[in-house]
Amino acid sequence: DWNPGNVIAEQVARIREQVGGARVISALSGGVDSAVSTALVHEAIGDQLTAVFVDHGLLRKGEREQVERDYVASTGVHLITVDAADTFLGHLAGVTDPEEKRKIIGREFIRAFEQVQRDLVAEAKAEGEQVKFLVQGTLYPDVVESGGGAGTANIKSHHNVGGLPDDLDFELIEPLRALFKDEVRAIGRELGIPEAIVGRQPFPGPGLGIRIVGEVTRERLEVLREADAIAREELTLAGLDAEIWQCPVVLLADVRSVGVQGDGRTYGHPIVLRPVSSEDAMTADWTRVPYEVLARISNRITNQVPEVNRVVLDVTSKPPGTIEWE
Ligand code: XMP
Repeated sequence: DWNPGNVIAEQVARIREQVGGARVISALSGGVDSAVSTALVHEAIGDQLTAVFVDHGLLRKGEREQVERDYVASTGVHLITVDAADTFLGHLAGVTDPEEKRKIIGREFIRAFEQVQRDLVAEAKAEGEQVKFLVQGTLYPDVVESGGGAGTANIKSHHNVGGLPDDLDFELIEPLRALFKDEVRAIGRELGIPEAIVGRQPFPGPGLGIRIVGEVTRERLEVLREADAIAREELTLAGLDAEIWQCPVVLLADVRSVGVQGDGRTYGHPIVLRPVSSEDAMTADWTRVPYEVLARISNRITNQVPEVNRVVLDVTSKPPGTIEWE
């Protein structure tokens, strides 16, 4: 019988054997796979593990706190947060092409992570220890998709923001390699990781950076972050989290339309809601969210986010539309 407790016990023993006394690092993204693989390795080797979380400034409201406070409180993982928003936003200035944004964000993520890595390696050396291992949250479907070879997971460039270049001198620890997503979630719950993290819907590595159509700026991120938080809250309150695979909220930053808000004419931006139902993100259909729920989201966003004067619903399936707008 499959049960999460057995898998944990088995993996803990294997990880201890693989690692010995060496030090290990892990990149946390805020997503389910990295959260669970990191917690599992922590269960095995405690403070020999250092987790690294890069705040690229493209996170949703509350995400950083969720990792720094709730995840750390529930797992005891030793965490380093890299404050990299200024660097990321600096490199994104003036960039509007979606693939260009992805490339920059991916590159800067690796730079930020490598910096911490160098610091940790230097620190360990000074103490006569070694940092030899890197945790990866590779799942079974990733292994299959990438041809199955050891260490070849995470090659989908599309999903590679949390992935790392292969010229690094690290041995990988991939405790989730034989598992499917629902099994990973069960293990995460067994390890006491908060439901908000374990049950989280997919969120792209480049974050809100690919949900602003147009240049990414601090002000625009703030607008999108507020609108996204309202939409997420209302969808959850309406009990739709199980039905919705994910719901990108997109700011059309270069589009303006005339509106009337309060006692005056406005010239604001539209927000797009993109709720989709899907099995695996390869194909998707738009979710028939009840009108009352859409009405609440629209009212709240246009009342509470002054820069937004219009909320529109994306009713396109995938294909032809992708889930994200960029
Ligand atoms: P699309 O937009 O291609 O998205 O239908 C399919 C799934 O992939 C996610 N996605 C990404 N994830 N880095 C990621 O880590 C990316 O650059 C990226 N682009 C899309 C998207 O959220 C959806 O779940």
